[in-house]
Amino acid sequence: MNVAATNLFEIVPLTEHIGVEIRGLDLSKPLDEATKKALHQAWLDHIVLIFRGQNLTQEQHMDATRVFGEPGHVGRPPKYFPEGFNRVLPGIMFISNIRENGEPIGALPDGEMMFHHDMIHHELPHKGTLLYSVEIPSHGGNTLFASGYAAYETMDPEIRARLEGKIAKHHYHYGSVQRGDDKGTEASAASKHPVFRTNEETGRKAVYVNRLMTIGIEGMDDDEAMPLLEYLFDHSEKPEFVYSHEWKVGDLLLWDNRCSTHARTDFPSTERRLMLRTTVRGEVIPY
Ligand SMILES: [Fe+2]
Repeated sequence: MNVAATNLFEIVPLTEHIGVEIRGLDLSKPLDEATKKALHQAWLDHIVLIFRGQNLTQEQHMDATRVFGEPGHVGRPPKYFPEGFNRVLPGIMFISNIRENGEPIGALPDGEMMFHHDMIHHELPHKGTLLYSVEIPSHGGNTLFASGYAAYETMDPEIRARLEGKIAKHHYHYGSVQRGDDKGTEASAASKHPVFRTNEETGRKAVYVNRLMTIGIEGMDDDEAMPLLEYLFDHSEKPEFVYSHEWKVGDLLLWDNRCSTHARTDFPSTERRLMLRTTVRGEVIPY
């Protein structure tokens, strides 16, 4: 495997299309401007950055987030805190299956999760997500990342021509991990965005629909739209476009939501999983 070295850190590619490990950086220490700039460029170039063996306070996690843009907001703080925590900073969200008084302390607690773009069901999806692992199960719970650029560039050109310029419709029930997994009383949200999105920082186009949340194409009957969307989902999730991340405690991952989808494999519900999530605020998507 090629190792691209800078004088600042090493970039180790993990697959052909997506994901690199960044070696030689301790994110608990302040980073100089040249390093921040090089990291930002590495993120644009490789979509997913992986930093192993980190030991971060919540403040340091926020500092790492600011390297890539303005941190996004999260909703209400949790009612309960897991062992070792007595607070959470604004901007940090627990992703966890740990339960206190019968209620999960964090979001998206259980099981497998289909491929999706975070917050695509909102008008202003965030552009990046950082996830830091604190507790992980003995097996399972991998995060899979698929390159939307690779999917766009290799898809059937006739289908691409039919869908170019079209707008997709998205819908999501909060907390769902499978399509149609309607929690009934929980809130849901809907949005519309281009089927193919241009990443404003790279100028490259990516497939911007996903199996979990995309429900149709504007101005097209479902009879016509759904087979096209199914083709896009299947094509985008092909193993050659995917990096599967096996978590270790202390991993910090950053991904670009504008040009990739991610999914989660199943894991034992009897074992604890705790991740801390921050986001990089997005910009209006033009179309
Ligand atoms: Fe997600």
